[in-house]
Amino acid sequence: MRGPFQSCSLGYWVGASHNGRGFATRAVREIARVAFEELGLHRVQAETLLHNVGSQRVLERNGFLPIGLAPTYLNIAGEWQDIALFQVINSSWSAD
Ligand SMILES: CC(C)(COP(=O)(O)OP(=O)(O)OC[C@H]1O[C@@H](n2cnc3c(N)ncnc32)[C@H](O)[C@@H]1OP(=O)(O)O)[C@@H](O)C(=O)NCCC(=O)NCCS
Repeated sequence: MRGPFQSCSLGYWVGASHNGRGFATRAVREIARVAFEELGLHRVQAETLLHNVGSQRVLERNGFLPIGLAPTYLNIAGEWQDIALFQVINSSWSAD
C-alpha cells in the first residue's frame, strides 16, 4: 500500500521437516530489508494466530512489536479467527 500507508503485509511458512533451523527468521529479515531499502516503505505488518508462539518469536527476533488484537480478522481453516498484529517501522524513512 502506498499513499499515506507506505506499508506492506508479510506472510510466511516453512515446510514442517525444516522447522527450527532459522529459515523463517532469516527470510523475514531479508524481506524487511527489501521492503525498507529497495521499496522505500515505512512499515511492514505481520499477523499471527494468538497461539502461534513460534511465528511470534520469528517476528520479535526481527524487531517487530505487537500493536494489537484484531477480532475475526482472517479466515483460517474455515473459521474467522482473532489475530495478533505486529509491525516494524523504518525509523530512517524519508520521502526522497
Ligand atoms: C512459524 C514458522 C514459519 C517458523 O519457521 P521456522 O523456520 O521453524 O522458524 P525459525 O527456526 O526461524 O524460528 C522459530 C523460533 O520459534 C521458536 N518456537 C517454535 N515453536 C515454538 C513454540 N511452540 N513455542 C515457543 N517457541 C517456539 C523456536 O524455538 C525458534 O526460536 P529460537 O531460535 O529463539 O529458539 C513455521 O513453523 C511454519 O511455517 N508454521 C506453519 C505456518 C505458519 O504458522 N506460518 C506463520 C503464519 S503467521
